[in-house]
Amino acid sequence: MTIEFEHIDEIDSTNDELKRRAAAGRCREFLVLSAGTQTGGRGRSGHTWSSPPGSSISTSMILYPRDVESEYIPRITPLAAVAVAETIEDLYGLPVGIKWPNDVLISEKKVCGILNEMILDDDGRPDHVVVGIGVNVHIREFDPEIADIATSLDLEMEAAGRTEPTHCGRIIGDIWYHFAKHYEDFLRTKDLKSVLSYYNERLVNRGRMVRVLDPLGPFEGEALFADEAGALHVKTEDGERIIDSGEVSVRGIYGYV
Ligand code: BTN
Repeated sequence: MTIEFEHIDEIDSTNDELKRRAAAGRCREFLVLSAGTQTGGRGRSGHTWSSPPGSSISTSMILYPRDVESEYIPRITPLAAVAVAETIEDLYGLPVGIKWPNDVLISEKKVCGILNEMILDDDGRPDHVVVGIGVNVHIREFDPEIADIATSLDLEMEAAGRTEPTHCGRIIGDIWYHFAKHYEDFLRTKDLKSVLSYYNERLVNRGRMVRVLDPLGPFEGEALFADEAGALHVKTEDGERIIDSGEVSVRGIYGYV
């Protein structure tokens, strides 16, 4: 797979720009678009995502997984979380956690969010997928609503007593290099086998009580592990329940995690 990188100073959203280019039929697979800032960055569940100029990474890659059933596409997102975790650990040696399904944390605070969007063709099969990754790098202050649950690489480097500078370009390159390896495995297996032990070792929800906001009714239980399909196993009073990331969100009972 050949990855092509393009950087622009400002855009509404790197995910939206890749989707526009794909809709216009002019987007090569594995194009990575990164922006210095986004004016309309989007997060999961309709949230906005802030990308202050020169302080964070906003980067997206376009994929054309035409042989993959649409129900398997959400499995691509944890691959990206693993790629970000590997990059931070390899480059800076900071210990990284993953909050199911795909938030990347340091010191139990969110340093990276991932938005995976699938566009179907007229037959209801995946046409293209845009994987968007936002990493807080040089941000030192967060909006009050997220100040308790967000962090940045620079803040965490400082807390660890480290003085070397972080470098957005290097981080972006390494993230997509790691992601490409895992995506190739995924195309063969259609599951998360190749990253599962790494993912579960860093899964911060493990062994903790969580509240599952299931549309059929919320429930609580102890998070156990994620399986090869990316589903979270939760031990409840009535037995084990298996949670699919597309349908629900999971909150810690005693805090963010
Ligand atoms: C989340 O809510 O945790 C997901 C955040 C995803 C943000 C990234 S930044 C690059 C890409 N472009 C967007 O508009 N969103 C994603």
